[in-house]
Amino acid sequence: MRRPRSPPYDKHMKAPCVLASRRPSHPDDEAHYETSSQYTGRVADEVEGQVIEESDELDAEAQARRQLALTQIRQYGDPVLRMTAREVTSFDEDLQRLVTRMKQLMHDARGVGLAATQTGILQRVFVFQEGEEDAIAVVNPVFSDLSNETEIDDEGCLSLQGITVPVERHLRLTLHGKDPEGNDLSIELEGHAARVAQHETDHLDGVLILDRTTDEAYKAALATLRPKPILASV
Ligand code: NI
Repeated sequence: MRRPRSPPYDKHMKAPCVLASRRPSHPDDEAHYETSSQYTGRVADEVEGQVIEESDELDAEAQARRQLALTQIRQYGDPVLRMTAREVTSFDEDLQRLVTRMKQLMHDARGVGLAATQTGILQRVFVFQEGEEDAIAVVNPVFSDLSNETEIDDEGCLSLQGITVPVERHLRLTLHGKDPEGNDLSIELEGHAARVAQHETDHLDGVLILDRTTDEAYKAALATLRPKPILASV
């Protein structure tokens, strides 16, 4: 049986997401990165998508924070990951709280992007990390000016732990949407940042990297992935 084809971007230009960093990092972790060139190297080499690979160099406390965060991020097999998120219409305190929580989860999970869907909230919101800057939240994302030029690179996902698969993405695009306060937002993205925006936007449409990879990588990923029990949130 064939997998359903992913919708082309020009048919679902509502998606969340923004910039991602070539090297995901967080202000709190500066000391860690400065003292651990090997770790940042692994990140840069292995992760183009959403996930920072686990590393032996994460200290015990950071590792514990990461594991706790991952228990609060929906994992492959959870049907919510296949659902379509709704447009946000209220830029209220609930939205602010959601964004704050998502940024914290992304940070703790060592990711560079996180869509609301992955926290079980079907609203069109995602957050992403660009370099040393504070994480950015994008509400009701829409793409324009998608480049014809594409690039294939490996991506991981916080909801698909333990795998990376090659995914073809547009190299450049312009991301439109609103910030959590309801102000208009428009950002030109290229390369890794554009990739993360497309990845997160896919989440809002129930699309996973498994849907966009080669048949060979898909089969190999499935051999690794099994529906995992959803651990209780703490
Ligand atoms: Ni993902």
